[in-house]
Amino acid sequence: MVGLAFDSLRGPGVRPAGPLSPDAALAPATVTAAPRRTSGAVRFEAVSKSYPTGSGPVQALDGVDLDIPAGAIFGIIGRSGAGKSSLLHTVNRLEEPTSGRVLVDGAPIEALGTDGLVALRRRIGMIFQHFNLLAAKTVRQNVALPLTVAGVPRAEIGPRVEKALRRVGLEGKADAYPSRLSGGQKQRVGIARALVSNPEILLCDEATSALDPETTLAILDLLRDINRRLGITIILITHEMSVIREICNDVVVLEGGRVAETGPVWRVFGAPEHPTTRALLAPLTRDLPADLAARLQPHAAPGGSAILRITYAGQGGPDLSSLAAAAGAPLRLLQAGIERIQGHAVGRMLVAVAEADPDLEARLRSLGGAVEQIGYARMDPDAG
Ligand SMILES: Nc1ncnc2c1ncn2[C@@H]1O[C@H](COP(=O)(O)OP(=O)(O)OP(=O)(O)O)[C@@H](O)[C@H]1O
Ligand SMILES: [Mg+2]
Repeated sequence: MVGLAFDSLRGPGVRPAGPLSPDAALAPATVTAAPRRTSGAVRFEAVSKSYPTGSGPVQALDGVDLDIPAGAIFGIIGRSGAGKSSLLHTVNRLEEPTSGRVLVDGAPIEALGTDGLVALRRRIGMIFQHFNLLAAKTVRQNVALPLTVAGVPRAEIGPRVEKALRRVGLEGKADAYPSRLSGGQKQRVGIARALVSNPEILLCDEATSALDPETTLAILDLLRDINRRLGITIILITHEMSVIREICNDVVVLEGGRVAETGPVWRVFGAPEHPTTRALLAPLTRDLPADLAARLQPHAAPGGSAILRITYAGQGGPDLSSLAAAAGAPLRLLQAGIERIQGHAVGRMLVAVAEADPDLEARLRSLGGAVEQIGYARMDPDAG
């Protein structure tokens, strides 16, 4: 079995836990990228796609420009109908762009003839939300299928299937039928079937959406392992923001078929610029608690505390002793949710400063834009 434990809770490139010098603990961790690959890069140039329908064309993609480097784990997010699957399907020409072009390793794929397209699709594996396994075939036969269809000699198929099953931790299940497997095991079969052709790119459309949280972590761990060991570029669509945070290096947010924003996960999640991104991230973001929001006043009142919101968006944020010095009065931590994504601190804290004086805001400005005074509230001495 592939190791799960706490490893799977770390993002890509995050150091293993262990003794670190204080400086090392504060410095962004070195992102241990997948082995440098020269193959598996995808570029979208002004890709548009419209589907003809009875009630007129539906514009699914509208001028998408995007670069996915070889060896990346790249996430695609967006609301339902934003064009995520349409974009993913242009990579192996399951869908043809209406205009614009897709390049794989610098070569435009629209010009490929039948043989070229077959060869391209062998370089691009795909896994699905509902696994798409053949119920009447064993695990071994399911995984062998792409090789059988490609006419690979039988003597070669056996060892390649065994190797793919070992890679996904299913060597003991080769003769089982899919109906006897758990969801996580079925997805492992799906991954083995994709790997058996030695692809350079793996497309995943909601590959963990049918799985429980623990199994999702195990499958993400497996995908990360495949990316690191084999250097395969992984492009994944998900509606679970935690999946992106967990394994992706970069992310693109689609909205109405266009790129709303794109960049490294720590930056897009730490300082989302587009309203769609903020809306998608809302479940992960700790906002102002309702009880505090109800008490918040714009002006100071006797006995009130100043409420500060401190945002960590990858730049490190203020150190706590500078904050305490600028506050010049007792500080109380009200709420905090800071995590590390790709070695960057990302999240927010809410702090109350007792006996706030009128110059507090000016002093806080000296700490940079990460500290914002959002109002005043009377703090119940018994409340946390
Ligand atoms: N084959 C098709 N024929 C007509 N319209 C289509 C077709 N496929 C997709 N669409 C439309 O194109 C738009 C984008 O669809 P797409 O499936 O790419 O979205 P998505 O972001 O993957 O959504 P979801 O999260 O629901 O899977 C939608 O308006 C959808 O209705
Ligand atoms: Mg879709």
